[in-house]
Amino acid sequence: MILKLSRRTLISSFLTLLFVSCKDSTNTNGRLNKQNDLKPIRLKIGKMADFKSPYTPLSIYRVAIIRVTENSQPSLKAISLLCTHQTCLVNFKSPTYECPCHGSIFDRDGTVLKGPAVKPLNWKKIEIEGDDIFLLPDSNVDKSWSLKI
Ligand code: FES
Repeated sequence: MILKLSRRTLISSFLTLLFVSCKDSTNTNGRLNKQNDLKPIRLKIGKMADFKSPYTPLSIYRVAIIRVTENSQPSLKAISLLCTHQTCLVNFKSPTYECPCHGSIFDRDGTVLKGPAVKPLNWKKIEIEGDDIFLLPDSNVDKSWSLKI
């Protein structure tokens, strides 16, 4: 059986379907429903044993994991390796981070020592779950923040 539809019926059906599908995913304010809200990106970057040294660069994730111990309490921090000038990957040449693109230099805690960058390197949140360490790459935390382990 061949069903013949007029162009008007076809367009009207399409618009109705489009309206229903959009309405189902939003509430009355046009905002996403709770179950559809975007969750922060969380990347598993390794196990606790992978971060025993004071400095572990993870270029693939564009961060370095710093292990610090204060008052016998070890903790981990994640510093972004993306230069704040034009996002080139900086290199750690103790005790500074140097950008190969235009020569910006940052100190150990990310503060700009030499431009053209004017903003410090960013620090990222990390989380622990069991033995696994996760990076939240879209987060930004204060440089004093650390994950107690
Ligand atoms: S991108 Fe680092 S100094 Fe320009």
